[in-house]
Amino acid sequence: MLETEICGIKLENPLLLAAGVMGSTASSMNWVLDSGAAGVVTKSFSTEPTHGYKNPTTVQVEGGIINAIGLSSPGVSNFKEELKLINRNNRNNGINGINSNNANNRNNGNKGNKIAIASIYGSNPEVFAYLVSQVSEFVDIIELNVSCPHAMGGCGAAIGQDPNLVQEVVKASKKASEEALEEALENASKEVSEEVSNELSRDVSKNSSNPISKTSKTSNTPIIAKLTPNVTDIVEIAISAEKGGADGLTLINSLGPGMKIDIKTGNPILSNKFGGMSGPAIKPIAIRCVFDVFNALNKSKRNNSNKLTKSNKSNKLNKSNKYRSNIPIIGVGGIANYKDVVEFLYAGANAVQIGTSIMYEGVEIFSKIATDLAIFMKNNNFESIDEMVGYSHKD
Ligand SMILES: Cc1cc2nc3c(=O)[nH]c(=O)nc-3n(C[C@H](O)[C@H](O)[C@H](O)COP(=O)(O)O)c2cc1C
Repeated sequence: MLETEICGIKLENPLLLAAGVMGSTASSMNWVLDSGAAGVVTKSFSTEPTHGYKNPTTVQVEGGIINAIGLSSPGVSNFKEELKLINRNNRNNGINGINSNNANNRNNGNKGNKIAIASIYGSNPEVFAYLVSQVSEFVDIIELNVSCPHAMGGCGAAIGQDPNLVQEVVKASKKASEEALEEALENASKEVSEEVSNELSRDVSKNSSNPISKTSKTSNTPIIAKLTPNVTDIVEIAISAEKGGADGLTLINSLGPGMKIDIKTGNPILSNKFGGMSGPAIKPIAIRCVFDVFNALNKSKRNNSNKLTKSNKSNKLNKSNKYRSNIPIIGVGGIANYKDVVEFLYAGANAVQIGTSIMYEGVEIFSKIATDLAIFMKNNNFESIDEMVGYSHKD
């Protein structure tokens, strides 16, 4: 009932961990996966190790928090080792196939489909392309952070506020992802030919003589662009990302920047003075962003499909007339309970991410929301998540 799909990858439920919260080590991400999330997004990382800003980096405000961590990370070569240890278990046959060589991918047994998403950042398309080439074999999806409101050195929102740069970054990342697949398949074929020429072919199993069985991928790793709400028109940026070839969009990164001042000292509290706002206060803005982008991406399809009609039995979207964008939206911003998730789905999200609320509710939030969402669906005669996606666009 809770299953959904993004970029052709099935998810056991629509709940994912957002980038930056509990996403710095494989063990914390595995804890989140074990707690009921269908997938995790890592903390954003780039080529080199970075320390980020000095403490304090986070401060509580009404309705959420402001953070300026500064995208601290151990750099791609160190972080790759963490990625390999994530207990993802992507069972999608023929899409992003199971890595038969990786024991970690079998650890989840019957727990369902668990995916890992790498969040990467850089200051230009070449850096993004390099990072994609480094990590695409270890994850199911790559999320491009072109949206952090407090990133250093021309990264984050400095890219995401420029539609041309967004398009270039996505295009370069897509190309790198396709090249990574070609290389993996080429290497796999070489391995198979070597086996054959070593006269081991008689002994190897039928399966291992297939090049695809030698690699974790049978298609390139999807590229998702995570956008900033801190622009005049988020639809323009979303369309640029789609033109660049994005396989999906994540909406939204933290809002602002915002600021809090200590009235005893008169000093700004964060060492960076300002940072990104997250938590329940930003949810209405995130919902509006998802609604607007869904509407824009589906406009042409809607015009062609002669508008939505209501089914006779209920006022659910009539499936045969339903218009859908080819690229899915992942909604994020202020989710604290199942009602928030319903709002995001209705606005047009296919899945959601949860960040700040974990700090208040703990990792149990994933299983709690999954249970409550299933009850809501039953009570409201929804048989699938798909029926709820874009429900608010019915008129
Ligand atoms: C402490 C903290 C660190 C974050 N780090 C990242 C990051 O590394 N990359 C990124 O794309 N977003 C980052 N975010 C933004 C979140 O992924 C999310 O987009 C935002 O917080 C809104 O969702 P929420 O209200 O559920 O937290 C961070 C947010 C917080 C609170």
